[in-house]
Amino acid sequence: MTYAQEASGGLGRPTAHADEDRPPDLVTALARARSAEDPGPDTPAGPAVRAWPGPSRPIPEPGPGELDLRALLRLSLAASDRSGRLRPAPSAGALHPVDTELVVGAGCPLPPGRYGYDPLRHRVHRLGREPDGTPPGATVELSVTPRRTVSHYGHRAWPLILLDTGHAAAALWLAARALGTCAARLRLDGLAESPLAEVHFDLPERTDQVRPRDGTRWTDPCLGSGAPTPGALLARRSAPPPLTGTPSRDVLRAVLATAVQASAGELSWCAAVGEPQPELVELAPDGTLRRLAAGEARPTLAVWAARQAWIADAGAVLLAYGCPADADAPRIRRAHLRAGFAVHLAQVAAVRHGPAARPVGSWQQADLGAALGTPPGRDWIVHGLALGTTHPDEEKTS
Ligand SMILES: Cc1cc2nc3c(=O)[nH]c(=O)nc-3n(C[C@H](O)[C@H](O)[C@H](O)COP(=O)(O)O)c2cc1C
Repeated sequence: MTYAQEASGGLGRPTAHADEDRPPDLVTALARARSAEDPGPDTPAGPAVRAWPGPSRPIPEPGPGELDLRALLRLSLAASDRSGRLRPAPSAGALHPVDTELVVGAGCPLPPGRYGYDPLRHRVHRLGREPDGTPPGATVELSVTPRRTVSHYGHRAWPLILLDTGHAAAALWLAARALGTCAARLRLDGLAESPLAEVHFDLPERTDQVRPRDGTRWTDPCLGSGAPTPGALLARRSAPPPLTGTPSRDVLRAVLATAVQASAGELSWCAAVGEPQPELVELAPDGTLRRLAAGEARPTLAVWAARQAWIADAGAVLLAYGCPADADAPRIRRAHLRAGFAVHLAQVAAVRHGPAARPVGSWQQADLGAALGTPPGRDWIVHGLALGTTHPDEEKTS
């Protein structure tokens, strides 16, 4: 790993050097990921954490009125096992490609500056000074080391990497909700290659508008659902298949409503159910469920989702779709970041209502619009969440 000396006079930031870590032509990468081509054999994933320079330090307890950065990161990104696979945020293949830098302003338990976060040790490395104009509070910048995900998914990795980043942003956003002491603002606009996404935490008493350095607006979705508890965020896991048993219409409605609101108009949403009547349902403007199409979709979904047979028996499959074939790179980034963000919130909402849930992110030839008889190339499945009411452990003992 080589390090570029940072203009702001710090210890410098690592520069990625592996071919897999160069940003791709995203339009071509997505078209290839959506094709029937199989990925090749696994390649080395490299280290689970970026090699931040210099010594590490703990994140201190906050003083009165300070931002509790330690708890925010513990509830969102910190690993709970030594390999780093288990974290409050899910990740395709548990490969966790997302890297985290903190831009710390006034009112935080760390001196203002830029820091690299080590999720395995829950410690930070000081990288340099904070940029001029850094607002009070802290901004979490999410960038990626693609090689970790490429190691297993090959050419299918890029949509997963973007979805993973959306999930990480959601985990940070939910951590602020669970603590209830600070407002979190999101940048998921897809405009920048790096960092791909940002979450700004205001100081506990400040909730007025803060703008990111590129001048775009932060957005803050006002979700109707209540805040999760810190314990629920730490306990979040993706339920292992099989996930059978159809969730009730009320639960499907609540999960769809969460996803629709969280995706801020970026994508369309529906759910495939098998029982009592196979159909695709969506949320009507009045908040009720209505039929989008009749018929059994789950076996086709299983084939489209990298031939994961268990999806054909899932109780329901929530689907985010859109992101047309002619989308440019910012739109591709925005759609996938938003889908990851929304599916994460939907997963937490589903579990709060009872059902088990598991994200499903690898989709090939999944032109849902074409399958429903609308023009092809416009409504591709971008992300999914399998839902079931029957816990595998209960099945074993019954
Ligand atoms: C973007 C994304 C895509 C995923 N796709 C799949 C999938 O296609 N099939 C599957 O079984 N699990 C999938 N998962 C779930 C991961 O395998 C799971 O998050 C990971 O193993 C870590 O386990 P945990 O969520 O219980 O912490 C996906 C997760 C994410 C975030």
